[in-house]
Amino acid sequence: MVYWALIHTLLFAVAGFAHPQANDTFKYDHSIRGRNPAPNTHFSTSSYSERFPDIAAAFDGNKRFMANRDSALFQSLVQNGQKPPFMMVACSDSRASESIFDLAFGNFFMERNIANQFRLDDFNTQSVMSYGVYALGAQHIVILGHYSCGGVAASIATPPKAPIDVPTQIVHTWISDIRSLYLSSNRTEVAQMRIANEIKEASGGTVPPPGIRDPGFRALVEENVKLQVQKVVDSPVIKNRFAEIVQRLNPDGTPKPSEQDSHHQRRGETGSIRPLFVHGWVHDLETGEVIDLNVSRGPPGFENYTPSSDGSSHPPPASS
Ligand SMILES: *[C@@H]1O[C@H](CO)[C@@H](O)[C@H](O)[C@H]1NC(C)=O
Ligand SMILES: *[C@@H]1O[C@H](CO)[C@@H](O)[C@H](O)[C@H]1NC(C)=O
Ligand SMILES: *[C@@H]1O[C@H](CO)[C@@H](O)[C@H](O)[C@H]1NC(C)=O
Repeated sequence: MVYWALIHTLLFAVAGFAHPQANDTFKYDHSIRGRNPAPNTHFSTSSYSERFPDIAAAFDGNKRFMANRDSALFQSLVQNGQKPPFMMVACSDSRASESIFDLAFGNFFMERNIANQFRLDDFNTQSVMSYGVYALGAQHIVILGHYSCGGVAASIATPPKAPIDVPTQIVHTWISDIRSLYLSSNRTEVAQMRIANEIKEASGGTVPPPGIRDPGFRALVEENVKLQVQKVVDSPVIKNRFAEIVQRLNPDGTPKPSEQDSHHQRRGETGSIRPLFVHGWVHDLETGEVIDLNVSRGPPGFENYTPSSDGSSHPPPASS
């Protein structure tokens, strides 16, 4: 243990040198900005879908979707509103989406961003989560990571050397928490990968993004999901919601007697609060499997909460 700690400390010093912290000040390229106004133009819309096969395919696909969709389900969702059981933070990756759950529309209130992150400086994810939980009554917040995540891979690879172009700097600023996690995680697979990478970088080498089955890479994908779960439960909005749940609900989900005629009920909010849970899952792109990391969190006292059998408010499963 002492030996490992020593090696780790020595190499961490090297890492601090090899991995400069992201500079939050974006350096705009004045040679480009100097062309004022920025170049862009309207172009003929009459035939562009014919010229671009990708766009033609998208509109053709929409026609197939319209022909095949469950129109009664959509009519119901439109008229009665959505009541998604899940608020999910997934990755923007085109190979990973909520469709892997094979559930109907109406189940997932989605946020997707690079490397499925929750950050307190990001009002996008926070507003999706707040609206999903408070207004739509989502019961489960899920952080859905996936192996082969490019954002996690970029957090492991040697960072680009200065001068860093603006697009690269924006991405590296967004993933900076994952780089910090890579540099500090004490999970064995991550620490071993880091030490090997640090030795390579200390001798002037460059670490490329890891291979898709690299155990350190897979472990860091999982640790990133766990970190995001932790950040969600530490966030003011979710902390407050947990406190409110404990205050207003019994562990079986029924309202506490003191809440029966409270201001919440007078404001017509009865039933708008229910136990809330946060989960961390990982999607394996190669097999399609979703792995539960068993890091679920919830308000204290609700560990054994089971919803009543009245599942009427939930959207139906996908028709096959
Ligand atoms: C970040 O970049 C800005 C603009 O180039 C520079 O003035 C500043 O010193 C940099 N900060 C760090 C910590 O490198
Ligand atoms: C590993 O890190 C976690 C969280 O940072 C910490 O609670 C734990 O004590 C650490 N374990 C070791 C062996 O250092
Ligand atoms: C989570 O728990 C389930 C049930 O106990 C188990 O089958 C699964 O392997 C666990 N997942 C992980 C990543 O440990």
